[in-house]
Amino acid sequence: MERPGRLCALWALLLCARGGAEPTAESQMPVTNLSVSVENLCTVVWTWNPPEGASPNCSLWYFSHFGNKQDKQIAPETRRLEEVALNERICLHVGTQCSTSESEKPSILKEKCTPPPEGDPESAVTDLQCVLHNLSHMKCSWLPGKNTSPDTNYTLSYWHRSLKEIHQCEDFIREGQHISCSFSLTKMPDSNLEQHNVQIMVRDYEGKIRPSYSIVPLTSHVKPDPPHIKKLFFQSGNLYVQWKNPQNFSSKCLAYQVELYNSQTDMSVTFYTEEAKCQNSDFEGNMEDTICFMVPGVLPDILYKVRIRVKTNTLCYEDDIFWSNWSEQESIGSKTNSTFYVIMLLIIPVIVTGVIIVLLLYLKRLKIIIFPPIPDPGKIFKEMFGDQNDDTLHWKKYDIYEKQTKEETDSVVLIENLKRVSQ
Ligand SMILES: *[C@@H]1O[C@H](CO)[C@@H](O)[C@H](O)[C@H]1NC(C)=O
Ligand SMILES: *[C@@H]1O[C@H](CO)[C@@H](O)[C@H](O)[C@H]1NC(C)=O
Ligand SMILES: *[C@@H]1O[C@H](CO)[C@@H](O)[C@H](O)[C@H]1NC(C)=O
Ligand SMILES: *[C@@H]1O[C@H](CO)[C@@H](O)[C@H](O)[C@H]1NC(C)=O
Ligand SMILES: *[C@@H]1O[C@H](CO)[C@@H](O)[C@H](O)[C@H]1NC(C)=O
Repeated sequence: MERPGRLCALWALLLCARGGAEPTAESQMPVTNLSVSVENLCTVVWTWNPPEGASPNCSLWYFSHFGNKQDKQIAPETRRLEEVALNERICLHVGTQCSTSESEKPSILKEKCTPPPEGDPESAVTDLQCVLHNLSHMKCSWLPGKNTSPDTNYTLSYWHRSLKEIHQCEDFIREGQHISCSFSLTKMPDSNLEQHNVQIMVRDYEGKIRPSYSIVPLTSHVKPDPPHIKKLFFQSGNLYVQWKNPQNFSSKCLAYQVELYNSQTDMSVTFYTEEAKCQNSDFEGNMEDTICFMVPGVLPDILYKVRIRVKTNTLCYEDDIFWSNWSEQESIGSKTNSTFYVIMLLIIPVIVTGVIIVLLLYLKRLKIIIFPPIPDPGKIFKEMFGDQNDDTLHWKKYDIYEKQTKEETDSVVLIENLKRVSQ
């Protein structure tokens, strides 16, 4: 390459131009009328026109990339469309070249940036996160920005390819500091999920805070519904667990966790599996969404409790972060034992309380028999010596009352004692 270049410099320019079958950078003209626009919420479209006076021998290709040489692309179209979370300014650089070769040096690059986001950066919501539940509805949550009033009225707008226009989320919930909103995605076509993104924008009703954007692929942050246990059975020392996967998910796209609780040891064991299959004739059918797992070395005379949860795997999805909720818990084993225990648990306290009451009553009687109340000699003395005093009249009344009540409640022995003393 160097040699012909030098030769060009040495010999006439005319010769060089004729021999230049492969165009040099200088020979290419830059694109014209590069402009940018935003569609939907964050579909950014850059368009441009071909260079003026392009060589007819050059089949034009456009080379483009973002700010720091990211996402290089060489294509013949005079537009580039990207879904970009517009939380910051983003710039596209475009140049022309005559081949698809990446090694070819393109023309001078032209640059066009999206308008910078408006508003105080500190006012934008933070921690904007969206989870796709059951592939059927999306729930996004966020924290208020620093410079926002606590009674800010938020709005969440969303858009995806199956929608004609931008929709507003209606179902807001406040959970402590977090604010969230969920919306349904039922209009989503099942096929080509991987090509779909949901564009999200959170701002306030009055337009005072800076909008926050998020682009959520439908292949990430997926939280499936819990599975349903269909059948538990013992066979030759193994426990078989059979369950139905949540709707909308194929078994090859899920990973599983089976939790086995042993009531005798009061301990749980958790099994993780990515491929759940049983080699068992009792396994019902070959239904795509019915899954089976075998736990070896299980004793049928112990009560077990089983529950299952699922999560997406990276074979079909971009991440595997979110476990589903646990399924309902199902029991197997000697169930009679459990009902017996429950009955015992209910009956024992009743019996114990009864025994205590009887014992207390008996003890009270016993106490009276063993320790009869000691009579007050002073009282009896005063009673013996006349009733001149007002005080003694009072005393007497009290004494009679006391005697009466005691006669009613106390044993015969007590009355006998009192009589003997007063005589
Ligand atoms: C650029 O746009 C202007 C006005 O829209 C138009 O007159 C001009 O022809 C365009 N340039 C090219 C190279 O298409
Ligand atoms: C284009 O190519 C043809 C033959 O392939 C050649 O005769 C012609 O001179 C070329 N024109 C330019 C402008 O290079
Ligand atoms: C999960 O999705 C299916 C189909 O889209 C739907 O019928 C079902 O009600 C959803 N489950 C929940 C808990 O929303
Ligand atoms: C939010 O809405 C309520 C009632 O619609 C209103 O009272 C309140 O002032 C609004 N908040 C702000 C920050 O404007
Ligand atoms: C999962 O559990 C949480 C908390 O118990 C509950 O609020 C939520 O509705 C459950 N989700 C499903 C799909 O059952």
